[in-house]
Amino acid sequence: MATLAHDAQPQIEIDPLDVSRAELYAEDRWQAPFAQLRADSPVHRVEHSDFGAYWSVSSYKPIVEVESLPELYSSEVGGITLADFLPENDVRMPMFIARDRPVHTGQRRSVSPAFTPSEMTRMSDDIRGRTADILDSLDWNKEFDWVDTVSIELTTQMLAILFDFPWEDRRKLTFWSDWAGDIELIKDEPSRLKRLEYMYECGTYFQNLWNQKVDKPQTPDLISMMIHSDAMSQMDQFEFIGNLILLIVGGNDTTRNTMSGLAYGLDQFPDERAKLEANPALIPNTVSEIIRWQTPLSHMRRTATQDTELHGQQIKEGDKLALWYISANRDRSVFGDDADKIVVDRANARRHLAFGHGIHRCVGARLAEMQIAILLEEMAKRRMRVNVTGEPTRVAACFVHGYRSMPVEISKY
Ligand code: HEM
Repeated sequence: MATLAHDAQPQIEIDPLDVSRAELYAEDRWQAPFAQLRADSPVHRVEHSDFGAYWSVSSYKPIVEVESLPELYSSEVGGITLADFLPENDVRMPMFIARDRPVHTGQRRSVSPAFTPSEMTRMSDDIRGRTADILDSLDWNKEFDWVDTVSIELTTQMLAILFDFPWEDRRKLTFWSDWAGDIELIKDEPSRLKRLEYMYECGTYFQNLWNQKVDKPQTPDLISMMIHSDAMSQMDQFEFIGNLILLIVGGNDTTRNTMSGLAYGLDQFPDERAKLEANPALIPNTVSEIIRWQTPLSHMRRTATQDTELHGQQIKEGDKLALWYISANRDRSVFGDDADKIVVDRANARRHLAFGHGIHRCVGARLAEMQIAILLEEMAKRRMRVNVTGEPTRVAACFVHGYRSMPVEISKY
């Protein structure tokens, strides 16, 4: 164990295998400890961390096992992030991602119709038009921030379409979602109070939208869909708002950071980028490969509901487990020795676990894939290449895995 000494401070021990440390992600140094965990201890107990004791589940098979047993490994008991959900510290916002069966089943069913293949077809022209407009507004050969100009703007526009949200206010969605999603970064009282204030503001705004739609015939947006669903009649106002926020947060950071990962990753592997540029038919597979390589949510958490055994380790009731998708997606036993690389024609890219597995597998997966595919298609039409011109600033967190900013220039190929 390494030790850090600070003047007049007690010595702080750092466990090199505590992969929940934010600096590993801020500095992009998470790969080595995970490789060690997968090789030596795929289900590993960490006694001391900022989040207390937890089990690190870092390889592919045990993650699938845990996600296949939702009664034994609950999403509801302790929530879905390593950071504990503390009701006294938070707004009451129950969401179906953090509910177990049977409540989860009904609530998930009430939003699933928004993500069917026919809904995707209905939305695709609109999303393509918006994507084209953004790409056409970019300056060639002039440096800009890809995260803000492209990833955030495109993701926010898509969410506004999905919710039929007032267009001029759409950046509010990004703002609220950042405050809702970055819960592990909120460590002091002023930021906790600010977050509460913004969550109430968000709740009130959506309450107004709800009021406008409640007595009207159904329209094909998520708010109206939820109002008219059976499960909705059993949801109270907090659950309704909580589930709306889940859909905003779920679709915000994830898709945004995949779009940024796409620019960064293809720049890192120019041979693979050349392969893709020469053959746009590889776009659908590249979408899965980039989602695998980026893995925009590093983990989901589960809590054991009884004593059990996992991969030879004795798990006790109440223990928390971090399912590290970010690591499983680099598991060489599944993806081969080049798992750390982007390979645009990787045969089994679709086997990635970035969307999770089992009953909670991402409900928006199809929409996310469609948006990323449209972005790559529209870039290909314009023969647009994104060149990263400096190191990106990364999110310092072990839940959201992404970028705050990334300087780029675009050029023709
Ligand atoms: C659930 C990842 C895009 C909405 C999840 C889970 C993951 C995930 C890991 C939890 C799975 C589990 O516990 O097994 C991603 C990634 C995305 C993405 C990597 C983009 C690349 C979206 C989009 C939306 C969305 C675009 C909606 C607009 C949700 C919802 C859930 C969920 C509502 C809860 C599902 C449930 O509990 O049944 N997502 N997501 N996600 N995602 Fe996504």
